[in-house]
Amino acid sequence: MDVQWYPGHMTKARRMMEENIRLVDLVIELVDARIPLSSRNPDIDALCTGKGRVVLLCKADLADPAKTEEFTEYFRKKGILAVAVDARERRAGEVVRRYVQEAGREKIAKDRARGIVGRPLRAMVAGIPNVGKSTFINSFAGRASTKTGNKPGVTRGKQWIRLGGDVELLDTPGILWPKFDNQVIGMRLALVGAIRDEILDKQELAVWLINYLQAEYPGALQGRYLASEASEEDAGTAADPEDQDAMLPPGYALLLRIARARSLLMKGGEPDADRAAAMLIDDCKNGRIGRISLDRLQDAEQMEEERLASAAARKQEKEKEDEEARKKAARSAGSSRSAAGKSSAGGRRPAGKSGDSGRRPAGKSGDSRRGPAGKNGDSSRRPARKDNGAGRGKSGSSRRRGI
Ligand code: G4P
Repeated sequence: MDVQWYPGHMTKARRMMEENIRLVDLVIELVDARIPLSSRNPDIDALCTGKGRVVLLCKADLADPAKTEEFTEYFRKKGILAVAVDARERRAGEVVRRYVQEAGREKIAKDRARGIVGRPLRAMVAGIPNVGKSTFINSFAGRASTKTGNKPGVTRGKQWIRLGGDVELLDTPGILWPKFDNQVIGMRLALVGAIRDEILDKQELAVWLINYLQAEYPGALQGRYLASEASEEDAGTAADPEDQDAMLPPGYALLLRIARARSLLMKGGEPDADRAAAMLIDDCKNGRIGRISLDRLQDAEQMEEERLASAAARKQEKEKEDEEARKKAARSAGSSRSAAGKSSAGGRRPAGKSGDSGRRPAGKSGDSRRGPAGKNGDSSRRPARKDNGAGRGKSGSSRRRGI
């Protein structure tokens, strides 16, 4: 199964996030407690450079509590403050506020040293789609003492939700895109509803889930889907599925058994694997199979390595694109110079001139890219415009206009 999902609007979302992140002291990174590793964006570290961080394991009410505890501990051991919540609960905001204060301690100390006292910590929420960002912001706002509007000198049109006088939350979340070079991560994301499953082979997804549950939560499927089999056998009405399915891979055979047990049959009475798969996936997304987690702690280190490798690969990719853009700019500047040289010197000095002139624009372009674009890392998305600096100025003002 080939899972690829990178909608174009995510580039815009990333830019917005980069813009907003400059306004805050720390980022509350929301992950899905059922897949606290797979639901992390590989670029989050780069995006949050220099900011405090709290990881919020949302939808903890749907996840395996023992595994959630292990993962929370895992993050803490890595020096990341982490807390599990049901984002729908009003007290989630209050719980998180304490962690935000802790994460912002350094910032408060720095402020104090500069004579700034009592400035609230500013935070923003970020995470992949459907992880619970809006729900959490609403819970936070429910507990909030005030909503503050535009802040002079900060930015126009931003709303801040103030909680307890010392924490302010930006009411616009940062949307991160799920990233999965690895198919299993794609499947896990689909099974918690973080990516659309129309792009996936549902049977394959369901069989993966069945195999995973059989290994990690033996009995979870039997209790929910196959309980009726025993009574049918007692009544002597059951076909012999074991014999029929003996040659099939065990996960698929179990899918067919579930279809039969739930009377999901096709016209000729054959089990309908598609409908059984859709049912299983839907039940998993909505927590009907029970409190389960789809990431495993034993995979954590390898997944973390892959996540960092993915972030590094993208960084390299961008650098390559930047380099190519610089070369292109140099070439076009070089050819216009040599054209000018030809007309003035009869074409005897194009090589030297072209070489020199080629280096100058490249240097210029390189300098400009070390500015904000280099910092925010999305320069690669921008074409090699000659008006690179001006282009950024424009896009800054477009952002201020809320585009
Ligand atoms: P987003 O802004 O990150 O995209 O996510 P959003 O808050 O919209 O939440 C997506 C769905 O997840 C919502 O369900 C919301 O109620 C649910 N949700 C959020 N946090 C939690 C949590 O901690 N526990 C549980 N159990 N559910 C949570 P929805 O509105 O019904 O949408 P959907 O079911 O159609 O996706």
